[in-house]
Amino acid sequence: MKLYYFSAVGVLLSMSLSATELPDRQAQLPSVAKDANAQYLQPNSLSTIPQGKFGDKVRKGYQLFVNSQQMRGTYVGNELNCVNCHMNAGNKANASPLWGAYMAYPAYRKKNDKVNSYEERIQGCFTYSMNGKAPESGSEALVSISAYSYWLAMSGLMNQFNVAGPVPEMSDSDLLKGGNREDFPLPEAITSKLDQQALTKLPGRGFPKLEKPELAYSVERGKLVYQAHCQACHGDDGQGVKMAEVSALPPLWGPQTYNWGAGMHRVNTAANFIYENMPLGKSIQLTVQQAWDVAAFVNAHERPQDPRYKGNVAETQAKYHQHEGFYGKPSAADPSVILGSKSYPIFPASK
Ligand code: HEC
Ligand code: HEC
Repeated sequence: MKLYYFSAVGVLLSMSLSATELPDRQAQLPSVAKDANAQYLQPNSLSTIPQGKFGDKVRKGYQLFVNSQQMRGTYVGNELNCVNCHMNAGNKANASPLWGAYMAYPAYRKKNDKVNSYEERIQGCFTYSMNGKAPESGSEALVSISAYSYWLAMSGLMNQFNVAGPVPEMSDSDLLKGGNREDFPLPEAITSKLDQQALTKLPGRGFPKLEKPELAYSVERGKLVYQAHCQACHGDDGQGVKMAEVSALPPLWGPQTYNWGAGMHRVNTAANFIYENMPLGKSIQLTVQQAWDVAAFVNAHERPQDPRYKGNVAETQAKYHQHEGFYGKPSAADPSVILGSKSYPIFPASK
């Protein structure tokens, strides 16, 4: 069995990062095609979260996850809630469920020889998807979201392998690391069936990889898909719908959504998400081609700046955008405008 987590190395690496350099914590997930026969973990219902201090952390994590707007202005800079992308309170298979994620960290990344802990991965979604400010390492927000994720993963595994009893409690510092480590306490009944590798790749983790479209994706065709299948909920201007000042249907572009550093801005990641999960409430309804086209249309609109931007769109594009995205390219709304050049602010002061 490989040892994935070397804390000394982690400490050294984080010390060598200069204060101004934002670490890249948004590694593209290794997306795999969906297996129609896969069995997904079934975590316990939330009503079984125990009383007491540990249970309170789990409950708090759930609340921050579904109503992230309570962190607006402290850690959250847009109108989104975590649950808008990690659907069904982070439980939905193939919508990047928390139980799948938890067991995959700490994750070792060959590219820059860095180890990402679970809390660091969450920090990434605060910085980019929530256009916010990452909570400090070890903060209550990170502990509680980690506790909630751990509780989903552990109760799901215990159910799958008929392990009785309550989910074992864990210290805050261990919760923050994630479940992919040799000293992670798992019952024998589970480790005898699934090795560490298998646990990092639980079926339903991430967004399933969509096959390539037949034709190169097109923003123009995507606009027609958008009008037919998305506009009723997300608005003709992509701004979603607010009720009583709360975003009931989330915005897809503009100042109030994920920024140019977020995974969802990549056409392939958005296509994976959309094909599987949108239009909401219906089973898969778009063709593969339509999913790619509409993902391109959505992501060819201006949004908050990439937090790694240092004053030059072309440089940011060259350094961080060597993938399927529209940063540094013409805007769908006005092709004379280069996307990134009129971006909205990152982590704006709340209204
Ligand atoms: C019936 C209403 C409805 C329709 C139609 C719909 N969506 Fe959504 N969409 C939602 C809701 C609600 C969420 C948030 C999900 C949640 O919180 O559980 C969402 C979330 C999203 C997100 C992630 C969050 C964000 O704001 O970026 C994207 C991207 C998205 N939808 C794209 C689309 C696309 C593209 C289409 C058309 C193919 C579409 N949606 C159709 C209701 C809808
Ligand atoms: C706009 C959509 C969106 C929102 C909102 C969002 N995320 Fe994510 N999240 C993603 C995407 C996309 C990925 C996968 C990244 C990739 O493949 O590049 C991801 C990945 C993750 C992962 C790792 C998943 C894995 O299996 O490795 C965790 C954990 C996570 N997000 C937690 C959060 C938390 C906590 C919040 C709220 C503070 C949040 N996310 C808000 C889109 C979102």
